[in-house]
Formats: sequence, C-alpha cells, structure tokens
Amino acid sequence: MKKRTAILISGRGSNMQSLVAAMHASDFPAEPAIVISNRPEALGLSWAAEQGIPTLAIDHRQYANRMAFEARLHQALLDHGAEIVCLAGFMRLLTGSFVDRWRDRLMNIHPSLLPSFPGLDTHQRALDAGALIVGCTVHFVRTEMDSGPILAQAAIAVLPGDTAESLAARVLEAEHQIYPLALRLVASGGVRVENETAIFDTDVVVPLPLIVPRIG
Ligand code: GRF
Repeated sequence: MKKRTAILISGRGSNMQSLVAAMHASDFPAEPAIVISNRPEALGLSWAAEQGIPTLAIDHRQYANRMAFEARLHQALLDHGAEIVCLAGFMRLLTGSFVDRWRDRLMNIHPSLLPSFPGLDTHQRALDAGALIVGCTVHFVRTEMDSGPILAQAAIAVLPGDTAESLAARVLEAEHQIYPLALRLVASGGVRVENETAIFDTDVVVPLPLIVPRIG
C-alpha cells in the first residue's frame, strides 16, 4: 500500500513538484493525499490543483492563534488520510503538540547542511562565513526550528563568483533530488530513529568525498 503523503507549502512549491513527479512512478511507495498552503495565493497551490491533487488553503491569518490554526491543519490531514507530511517551503513554525502528533512522520527540507545555518538567508550566511561546501538537508521535524534526525543531505561546492542567488539555484537542484529520495526511503518503512539519529535499513553506494580548495 502506498503511503498517503500530504505536502505543506507557502510559495512556489518547486520541491512539492519534485515530490509529486517522483510519486507518479508506479513503484514509488507514496502517493499524494493533499497539498495544503497557509497562503491562499501560493503559486504551488494552483499547480497542484491543475494536477488533480486535492488542495486546501488554510490561511493562518484567519485563526486566533497557532493552536486553532494547527487544529484545522491536523483535521484536514486526518480527513485526507495522510500518513506522512512533507513540509516543502512551509513558512510557519509548528508547535510541539502538532510536531509530537506527527513524530517521525513529519519531514522538512532546509537549504543548508544542518546543523549549520538553520533559519533564513542560509546561502548569504554561508558565503559570509567563507564556507566552501554548502548543501541541503531533509530531516524529521522537531519543535526547535530546522532541527531533528537527519534523513539525507546533498553537498555542493562553492565556486568563485558565486552569489547567494547562484548558490540557491544549484542547491535547489540538489533539493529536488534528495527530497524524493528521503520520502521513498521513509515511505518504504526502512527507517528507524535511535537516540535522535535516523537510520535507513537499505544499501546505497556512497560517493567519494567532495573536496573543494579555495580558488579564484
Ligand atoms: C526551498 O529552498 C526549501 O529548502 C526551503 O524553502 C524553499 C522552498 O522552495 N525550505 P519551493 O517552494 O519548494 O520552490
């Protein structure tokens, strides 16, 4: 049985698109259940609707507080039979009670090599810090922002002349590869969390290290 997967977005939804594209494969162990945005105007919401995926806008500004917003969100996830929830550019912090209810079934993608550079503006901060290798991380969500057991990471070399924008574009390409990979591994049931570390029961070929001297 394919795992019913909800995707939560706030904007353009390119990661959502990569997840949906992967889920088209007949042997992929997850299928789209619903796409939800806290912003009714999110471009990704109309894209998902055009694909025939159920969509829902839950405008957080219409709710008195986070608890009320999250109660609606939780109910919508239950109504659509969601078993896994993927945050994909979802720009609302979730409270501990929501996160706990979806513990180890709630995933996020972040455009840095966590635990470095949680939060916003990651690419500029990495450049300012002189980082030579940057990347992205898929992780299970915990209450603290951009924290939780790491499921997959991809690394990118910083090249001479890179800007926050050029880095963001290359990291985004990697995001589109690792989020479907992580979802496939989680949905196939081969993940366990021990001491807050996620471990997959699967064989993968790990590539050689990426070695980047400072040039330019
Ligand atoms: C991505 O960079 C993601 O890592 C971050 O927000 C951005 C969302 O982009 N959390 P998109 O909406 O998936 O195109």
